[in-house]
Amino acid sequence: LPEIAYVNGEFLPLDRAVVHVEDRGFQFGDAVYEVVRTYSGKPFAVEEHLARLLRSMEAIELEHDLTVDGLKILVSEAVRRARFPEAVVYLQITRGHAPRHRGFPSPCKPTVVLTVRELMPLSSELRENGIAVITLPDNRWARCDIKSVALLANVLAYHAAKNDGAHDAIFLEADGAVTEATAGNVFVLTGGRLRTPPKSPKILAGVTREKILETARTVGIDAAEGRVTKTDLLKAEEIFLTSTTAEVVPVVSVDRQPVGDGKPGPMAGRVYEQFVRMFAKA
Ligand code: PDD
Repeated sequence: LPEIAYVNGEFLPLDRAVVHVEDRGFQFGDAVYEVVRTYSGKPFAVEEHLARLLRSMEAIELEHDLTVDGLKILVSEAVRRARFPEAVVYLQITRGHAPRHRGFPSPCKPTVVLTVRELMPLSSELRENGIAVITLPDNRWARCDIKSVALLANVLAYHAAKNDGAHDAIFLEADGAVTEATAGNVFVLTGGRLRTPPKSPKILAGVTREKILETARTVGIDAAEGRVTKTDLLKAEEIFLTSTTAEVVPVVSVDRQPVGDGKPGPMAGRVYEQFVRMFAKA
């Protein structure tokens, strides 16, 4: 089955898709993106993802004539053409290509790039045994609510985690407040209450995060936004990360200290099962 791409109006095989070397996405990271997955071949929460993409474009003042409806058709068409059992769609919009200069090009002709790959679900090993994480100072910019392609700090934090024998990193502000992980939001169970850091410019408001809050409340779990600190991580009964591609990932140690008894707890499993029941069943 083909891995396909779409560049500025044209579908083509992924390995033939190219953009200009002076594209501002490449030169400056002057671009925003979304990642959408399918369940049973249908794009999941696509309107939420595309609404967030439009908010990201608005936040960086990217001039465009794209609409949620138009992009929805594009995503569906791409998924249909690729014919994978389950797919991951990556959609990136840049401020176009222009001779390298800080100023916005005027007029701006955005570059629209989309790729479709087969979804590789999180390994059952990780889902069942959980992951180790380290904590790191959040050295990212102050607008992590914008889904910017400029992910260098996330890339370096992930690499540091791997080098340390862990699987991911959780970012902390100077006062110890948890923001998020390198590619997902954080949920913490303390005293039987499930908490996730509140929406703010410091985190991406994850689509999965929202669905998990809804899922948990549906089955009567006390789940809410609330400040989470490093101290909470260290005394948590459970911790898990959420994202489009990994869904729900139990965290079993933080900075080498076990979370609870060092095994994934029942809450992560319960929430994940209910999430699948509510959203991932055909
Ligand atoms: N990333 N926070 C960060 C920094 C992320 O990169 C992501 C997802 C999330 C979770 O958002 P959502 O539930 O809407 O996927 C939170 C995507 C999957 C990525 O970059 O591949």
